[in-house]
Amino acid sequence: MDSSSTPSISDSDSTRRISGRKHPVIAIDGPAGAGKSTLAAHLARRFGFLNLETGAMYRALALKAIDQAVALNDELALLELAGRTQIVPELRPEGNRVLLDGVDVSRRVREADVTAAASQVSVHPRLRQWMVAQQQRMGARGGVVMEGRDIGTVVFPDAEVKIFLDADPEVRGNRRYLQVGPGQKTQEAITHELKERDARDRNRRESPLRPAEDAVVLDSTSMTLEQVLRTAEEIVRRYVEGWEEGRSSGEVAGSKGK
Ligand code: DC
Repeated sequence: MDSSSTPSISDSDSTRRISGRKHPVIAIDGPAGAGKSTLAAHLARRFGFLNLETGAMYRALALKAIDQAVALNDELALLELAGRTQIVPELRPEGNRVLLDGVDVSRRVREADVTAAASQVSVHPRLRQWMVAQQQRMGARGGVVMEGRDIGTVVFPDAEVKIFLDADPEVRGNRRYLQVGPGQKTQEAITHELKERDARDRNRRESPLRPAEDAVVLDSTSMTLEQVLRTAEEIVRRYVEGWEEGRSSGEVAGSKGK
């Protein structure tokens, strides 16, 4: 990689002084296929934080709804279902798993039917509140990279570091296609599905996908993965170093955008 072409982070983007914690919440939001999971896993490893993928929780509930033939547009029925469901994201060095009522469903929840169902399930306001309350409990002690759509805006509006990772839909579709490999679906079909999910995520009434006002927006359309990882790493490093410096001088630093 040519490091001279890595987009730089200006001070106003990344070192605004705010109150903060030694064990911060790092919020990674953005549309499907932008590379959030790869980025979140990288940052968690690099800085020794936990990595919580909130999308897996929506996916797990959607899977249970499919299995129990609960209509995806029936908010009350879904809420009742959620009340008798245990979703446990399990953090493991070799990759996170999600347990649904004690069963490992990590692979199943990535399949196309569950992916589409999760997007439908996630539009319901009261169901989101149920998810958000759990996510807030899970991240309350900090030291966590939490990835989703509404982490910086709703789940942890006070997150010390907020990154909104975006990319052109055609580019995201292409990356997904290369990731999945040539199979049943064409690149056009993958891009089309992605745009449909985007539209639902961005236009839903409750917590639509949008960058928090104080998020650093990283548009990765023309960036390599390596550039994205290094840029985000720099943002987090500034927070961590700023916190340590701030502590020794009685002041604490944060890393949010303007
Ligand atoms: O990140 P993902 O693709 O695993 O997410 C699956 C679905 O869940 C996606 O359509 C959007 C939704 N979601 C959400 O609404 N809020 C979150 N914090 C995480 C995911």
